[in-house]
This record gives sequence, C-alpha cells and structure tokens, in this order.
Amino acid sequence: MTPARGAACGKVILLGEHAVVHGTPAIAAGIERGAEATVIPAPEGRSSLHLAGIEHLPGEAKTPLCHAFAALLATFPDLPPVRITAESRLLPGGGLGSSAALGVAIARAAATFATSTGSATSVDAAQILAAAGAWERVFHGNPSGIDTTAAALGGCFLYTRAEGASPLALRHDVWLAVGSTGTSASTKSMVESVARLFERKPEVRDHTLPAITALVRNAALALEAGDLKGLGHLLDLNQMLLAGIFVSTEDLERMCLLAREAGALGAKLTGAGGGGSLIALLDARSDDDAARAAAPVLAAWRAAGYDGQLARIS
Ligand code: MEV
Repeated sequence: MTPARGAACGKVILLGEHAVVHGTPAIAAGIERGAEATVIPAPEGRSSLHLAGIEHLPGEAKTPLCHAFAALLATFPDLPPVRITAESRLLPGGGLGSSAALGVAIARAAATFATSTGSATSVDAAQILAAAGAWERVFHGNPSGIDTTAAALGGCFLYTRAEGASPLALRHDVWLAVGSTGTSASTKSMVESVARLFERKPEVRDHTLPAITALVRNAALALEAGDLKGLGHLLDLNQMLLAGIFVSTEDLERMCLLAREAGALGAKLTGAGGGGSLIALLDARSDDDAARAAAPVLAAWRAAGYDGQLARIS
C-alpha cells in the first residue's frame, strides 16, 4: 500500500498575537516552509509516531509529544494502528508555527489513510482542525487556534476565536524578511505570563486589547488597499504594545531596529515572542523589488549574528 501523505505550511502572525488569545482579532498568513507526514499500516500492530528519528508511542511515555499524539489519534476513533513519520522544517518554539504545522500534516495524513482504508468515509476541514487543535492544546494549553488555522489554510486572513478565519483580499503580494533570534521560547509559558499580567493589572489589559484591535482592523484595510507604508507603521506600533506586555526581548528589539535602519517599512516579533522570530515589511511590489529590499536587511542581521530569509504572502 502506498503511504498516505499530509502537508501543512508554517505561519507568520502579521499583527495581533497574544491579544487574539483574549478574544480580539489578529492577522496571520501561511509561509512556504512547513511540515510533512506519511502514514502506513503499523507493522508492529500498535500506533507510533516517528519524529526526527525518535519513536513516540501514544500514552506510554510522559512526554508532551506522546500525549499530543494520543490526543490527535483519539479524534480518529476507528483508525487502525498506524506508523506515522513526520518532519517539520521550522524551528520548534521559533514563532513560525512548527507544532501546528506538524499537527495539521499528521492529521491530514491520518485522514487520507482513514478514507483510503475505509475506516472513515470522508474527513472535512473542520475535523482536521479539531484533530490538530487537540494536538496543539497539549503543547500550548490555551491556544487561540490561529496557528493551526494558518497551517491548514495558508493565504492571509483575519482571525478571531469566535468567528475563525475570514480571508483578506490583498491588493498585491506582500514581502517580508523573516528573521530568527536563534533562541526559542515555550508558547505555553509566554501565553501564561501574559494572562498573569492581565490578571494582576487589569488596566494593562484594558489599554492593550482595544489598542491592538484598532491596529489589526487598520492593518486589514491597509493590506486590502495596498498601503505598505501605513502597514509598516502599524507593525511598529504593535511591536511597542507587545514590548509593553513583556513578550519582546533584547534580540528582538535589536533585530527590529536593524531592519528599520536597513529600509524595512516596519518590524515586529511574530508569534509568542520571548525569542523566536520577527518579521520586517519590505518596500516591494515584485519579486525583484523584494530581493533588492531584503538584501540590506538580511545583511544587517547576518552581520549581527542572526539568520533570516525572504517570504512572500500572497
Ligand atoms: C502563537 O503563534 C500566537 C499566540 O497568540 C498564541 C495563540 O494565539 O494561540 C501567542
């Protein structure tokens, strides 16, 4: 039997991370690098997940991966024992949705396997999101769902917990330099630290959430109007608010500054922060423009010891 395959993209959050956990809107987009999974019938007669050459058995060991695998499998109750091999090309904890991409890729491969073996008649997008969501909750405790939605949908969309994704009709493609601080942080602990701050200081929550909501709504308009300068300014303001809730770091601030000095229209951390990745908006309207605009940003980061790459949002 040929293996069943599933794939998913990585993601960047353009604006609104953290606040989205508390019910406000955010904008996310899929990026090309992501994750892949293959499923075959289990030769050993019991399900196993093989990730980076290491075997994980559902429920046996007490690692989050085993628990996440068990939670995902539980959403396919009639699936026969399977051997799943998965790989992510995204840095774990790097802010680009590595665990969500893995969850969606594994859920898609399992769903394809389930339908091809007759243990399910059809599997729809909502079931894939439910399976990936069960996986993601083990790692992130209280995820908003934006990461798994981006991994499954790609494109660029406005998202709220209550309403899910509404695709944005971009005036034209958007090019970003995506930088990595080279360090990672646990999304779960970053989300918990913001929740604790909002509990301790409700006045910070009451200032931050409406301000981020306004930035996100304006950014959606800027994206649809093709107003890159306006969008860049909104990214910078969002970064200030994220620093105000203590999810930025010295590396992230330094990389944002380097990017702006090298001509980026705006820059901010993306994802949970505490390390991880940032995005810098390039003044570009074509692939050629983008390569030209990205070069000084990537060079400035490289000279300071950081990695980066070009990404297109379409
Ligand atoms: C992580 O990529 C985004 C956060 O807003 C968490 C979430 O929405 O689940 C920090």
